[in-house]
Amino acid sequence: MTKAAIGLFIILTLTLTAKGQVQLSFPRCEMRENPMGIDVLQPALSWRIESNSRSTVQTDYQILVASSQEKLAVNKGDLWDSGKIRSPESANVVYQGLALKSRTKCYWKVKVWTNKGSSEWTAPAFWSMGLLNGADWKGRWIGMDHAAKGDSETQFSRLSARYFRKEFKAAKQVKSATAYIIGLGLYELYINGKKMGDQVLAPGPTDYNQTVKYNTFDVTNYLKQGNNAIGTVLGNGRFYTMRQAYKPYKIKTFGYPKMLLNLDIEYSDGTKEVVGTDDSWKMTAEGPIRSNNEYDGEEYDATREMPGWADAGYNTQSWQKAQFVQEAIGMPVAQMNENMKVMETIKPVSLTLLKPGVYIMDMGQNMAGWIRMSVTGKRGQTVKLRFGETLQGGGELFVRNLRDAKSTDSYTVKGAVRESWEPSFVYHGFRYVEISGYPGKPLLKDFEGRVVYDDMQSSGQFLSSSATLNSIYKNAYRGIRSNYKGMPVDCPQRNERQPWLGDRTTGAYGESFLFDNGRLYTKWLDDIQQSQKQDGSIPDVAPAFWRYYSDNVTWPATYFTIAAMIWQQYGDLRPIVKHYPSMKKWMNYMEGKYMTDYLLTRDKYGDWCVPPESKEMIFSRDPLRKTDGVLLATATYYKLLTLMKEFALLQKLDGDAAAFDNLAEKIKNAFNQKFLHEGQYSNNSVTANLLPLSFRMVPDKDRAEVFKNLTNKVEIGNQSHISTGVIGTQWLMRGLSSNGRPDLAYRLATNRTYPSWGYMVENGATTIWELWNGNTADPGMNSQNHVMLLGDLLIWYYENLAGIKAAAPGFRELIMKPDFVQDLSHVDAGYQSVYGTVKSKWTKSEGHFEWNITLPANTSAKIYIPVKNISRLRESGSELKDADGVRLIRMEGQQALIEIGSGEYKFVLN
Ligand code: BGC
Repeated sequence: MTKAAIGLFIILTLTLTAKGQVQLSFPRCEMRENPMGIDVLQPALSWRIESNSRSTVQTDYQILVASSQEKLAVNKGDLWDSGKIRSPESANVVYQGLALKSRTKCYWKVKVWTNKGSSEWTAPAFWSMGLLNGADWKGRWIGMDHAAKGDSETQFSRLSARYFRKEFKAAKQVKSATAYIIGLGLYELYINGKKMGDQVLAPGPTDYNQTVKYNTFDVTNYLKQGNNAIGTVLGNGRFYTMRQAYKPYKIKTFGYPKMLLNLDIEYSDGTKEVVGTDDSWKMTAEGPIRSNNEYDGEEYDATREMPGWADAGYNTQSWQKAQFVQEAIGMPVAQMNENMKVMETIKPVSLTLLKPGVYIMDMGQNMAGWIRMSVTGKRGQTVKLRFGETLQGGGELFVRNLRDAKSTDSYTVKGAVRESWEPSFVYHGFRYVEISGYPGKPLLKDFEGRVVYDDMQSSGQFLSSSATLNSIYKNAYRGIRSNYKGMPVDCPQRNERQPWLGDRTTGAYGESFLFDNGRLYTKWLDDIQQSQKQDGSIPDVAPAFWRYYSDNVTWPATYFTIAAMIWQQYGDLRPIVKHYPSMKKWMNYMEGKYMTDYLLTRDKYGDWCVPPESKEMIFSRDPLRKTDGVLLATATYYKLLTLMKEFALLQKLDGDAAAFDNLAEKIKNAFNQKFLHEGQYSNNSVTANLLPLSFRMVPDKDRAEVFKNLTNKVEIGNQSHISTGVIGTQWLMRGLSSNGRPDLAYRLATNRTYPSWGYMVENGATTIWELWNGNTADPGMNSQNHVMLLGDLLIWYYENLAGIKAAAPGFRELIMKPDFVQDLSHVDAGYQSVYGTVKSKWTKSEGHFEWNITLPANTSAKIYIPVKNISRLRESGSELKDADGVRLIRMEGQQALIEIGSGEYKFVLN
């Protein structure tokens, strides 16, 4: 420790002791910090407990919710005083106070009692309610319901951004002001010239015929007594979608950009005023953003900038009156998931001259977002930025895998001393940028990469002694964040970018170890529910911006697995309860329509993207590589029945549970009868054997044989390489590990030859490819930035290598049983659970084993340590029996099963 670190350590310890043993941190409402404008009527509150003694558990809590800071300060919970509640719950405690009305401000704090003492009250936290009733909106929908000059409504549509403004007078001193806005497809909001919030590409995309999301801002500090101005800019997003007048049967579009806004003002004298959108607003389509199209890029003409347009006193002579338009069809609801934000700014690594006037810039990594550029030039000069993921021979940008997405931004210089620009309403998936038309010689320092994704915390870190595992992890991290765009999309670059369900069936769970994705996926479940047809059918893409209702089983399965993931990883049961009826409806629909003799007969994608027989192919035609669609559909449907049974039991719906169980049993028998012959399933593909093994469909007497066939196929048939596609890979790593072959799982994870994740690394990938042969396959469907082939790899990293696995919802209890694989000498991982940080760090070498574990307060774990002679095991220097918070449960063969409470532990074996 450095001197400074020691000093800090002493100060921290002193404050802890001074303040007491137990402190609270991370007060969260709906897992967000002080959220504004929510519409959950009984929000869930959570906190974390910090304690300097081991095995701290909460025994009681008290929550106060007050309608003012003053009341809260004197401990008056006029909205809710829970009283002292005997309960260990510290996550997702549901508000039980007075009914909350629109605009209510809720100030809250919590105090806990534990077995190691009590805490002080937390510092006041906050949430506010949004506009819960239609009548709360004084504003009316405004827009411009036609194309403007320079717009084009052809397939490659161009629509200029629409600018709106309103000037108004605040007659008195403003006490507080809140803006509620629905800006479709995308908006920027300005008050007196200042942009509100740091979100980009807001609001989150939805099926706008179902719901439209509003965002809420506290704008108190931006208003002044006297004249004020509100300005908004509307972009297209998915509302006026990227391809117009083209395949309308498939591609959904919703109309011209429009908006609804309420600015609620409360004056110091207690009077109130609402400034809403109406036809006293002014609008123009003649501003600098000439075109914005998520696939094709943004055109910005700085010579058309309108200095001061969002300030009071601007001359609007050339502007028109805003047009009243039809209200959006979807219901306004508060956006509960995070908006996107510029989450990181990176520097390019090289800039090379390709030919006169044309440069290629390398960002050093594949990313999604855009470029911020500085330029000095003559008024009217236009710089073009064209984006691509790879280069082709001669160092040129390779764009064939973008299909018809033009992915080009352009900026026309206004002629100022130095201009800086970044787009507002588009993003690109790219590593390389072709720069042309740049006045003078572009330098690296003139450009920055803006990495854009949903504003969520990173939740984990993972390092090991294997460089390959570490590189794959980084690629996964970059890939996942690239594809969070208010919904999980398949890819960020080509003319697709769709929220395909099947890409995330297991992926969402693995991703949760890297990103705090609970709200995003909770929102996505709503998107999926809203896309369900009357008859029960669930599409393959939701929101169904592309209409694909193919009625396969494997893609819609995501609806169920993600609800289960949110329960397990975040301890939130509400999505299961909310979606249960729609899930049941789909189960019934599929059974009624596609089940024959207890087999589900409908499949569409097969084991999507298995490594094909030739390196140029996209899809295999080899029947031995592919897995029977009926097997995939039936096994998956069986798995969903087991999930539905669990969901039913959680809600005490015992009758439902029995019915699901009953059907599952019949399906299992029919499945085994049809596909299981002499210890192998169907054509003996890895996926064919793996699914029934993972879903526990295999009769006990056949399990060993089936697994043997599976490993033979991997080791001998495929020379210890991957042969699975999107479906099989979801179960592969855990399947090998949990059935006793972690060594083989490890070999697959660290291969660097084709096909493998390491092969991607070996070939320069900085993200995960769509295809195992992504460097050689046809560009027709070959994204360099998909995440679906990750399968269960990340789950395996955390649960099987680091041993960080939830044994009770939200990691309240853990089961820590790492596979200490021979070739791995070191793993160091951490995960931010809702209770706090879990850490697991182990090292082993000849004659030495050390495992450091940290568990947050209010949690416990059962851990497994391989040890022949238990008396040799030490915890922080003590024998086990003397170690605080440690209890040996029993020896299980050569493993000690030990229970530990919260705190930091160091187990050593010499
Ligand atoms: C997408 C995949 C998707 C698949 C299903 C592809 O075009 O990129 O991610 O799951 O289609 O057909």
